[in-house]
Amino acid sequence: MNGIKIRGTGRSVPGKLVTNQDLERIVDTSGEWIASRTGIQTRRHCAGEETFSSITAEAARRALEDAGVPPDQIGACIVATVTPETLVPSAACGLQAALGLPEDIPCFDLNAACTGFLFALHTMECLLNASPRKFGLVVGAENLSRVVNWADRGTCILFGDGAGAAVVECREGWPSVSAVLGCHGNGELLRLPGPETGEPSYISMEGTKVFKFAVEAVPWCVNQVLQKTGRTVEDVDFFVFHQANARIIDLAVRKCRIPPEKYYKNIAEYGNTSAASIPLVLSELREQGKIGPGSRLLAVGFGGGLTWGGCLIEFA
Ligand code: COA
Repeated sequence: MNGIKIRGTGRSVPGKLVTNQDLERIVDTSGEWIASRTGIQTRRHCAGEETFSSITAEAARRALEDAGVPPDQIGACIVATVTPETLVPSAACGLQAALGLPEDIPCFDLNAACTGFLFALHTMECLLNASPRKFGLVVGAENLSRVVNWADRGTCILFGDGAGAAVVECREGWPSVSAVLGCHGNGELLRLPGPETGEPSYISMEGTKVFKFAVEAVPWCVNQVLQKTGRTVEDVDFFVFHQANARIIDLAVRKCRIPPEKYYKNIAEYGNTSAASIPLVLSELREQGKIGPGSRLLAVGFGGGLTWGGCLIEFA
């Protein structure tokens, strides 16, 4: 099987900034509590003309531009999300129309909660191996502010909106992303009911239990990917973690002995953006010149489902 590499990245976050102080006026909390327990200072919310669809299309357009790949070269499009604007048409079908992607390719949404972008990268690698076109569009996008319970201080402070995208290229001889993906069905720890279930469509979570799951899952995924690829921490240029809580990242990097110059946190600015968080980090790192052609990254995600996963990703 041929592997994929990232050719370009893009991101879009809505302009509406919501600070911890803004949340003090909505629920019984304090900015200091939020910052010290989660590392979050602000998050972005869709409002007015900035919608899930507009930020998703913007991020995808920027990734195509960055990659220098015209839309007609795209062989598949996957949007990882749990908050599409409509269930039908899918967000990916919306992108087909908005960007003018070819009509003879698969475009679909994928739900693996906060691990969605990595499930999508692996799926894209499989799809491009069966496609005459060499490029794929992988997007992670969320409008979580729409599905938080504003009466629950344990969750409403955590989540934000955003979209990140990557254009990947598949070529003979390139290494696979060597995905390690897993699931453990559990509707208690983290839940977002769909319509017609009789339950409100809000996120509910047993935060402390999810925290414990995450601090074990992240180092486990790092080690599994290193083992699968025969690499060491030294062989990896950058580690990209799902941004759910700064303390989860701090504990994981300590356990894996990852030096501070090899990882990055933007959770202070965006909060937890679920499937968008990993591609948002990728896009910022690329813009800042911290990663670029030839870089080798190890990305790890975890979240509702429960789901978890890791991939070794190279930049073309
Ligand atoms: N402001 C002030 N107090 C709050 C609060 C808030 N926003 N949210 C919860 N509290 C209170 C709780 O009510 C509890 O009070 P009590 O002891 O009087 O009952 C106390 O703070 C401790 O709550 P707890 O839930 O044990 O805190 P915690 O240290 O586990 O932090 C999270 C809560 C949500 C920040 C943390 O559990 C977390 O980040 N979990 C993982 C979340 C995650 O990653 N989810 C997504 C996966 S992709």
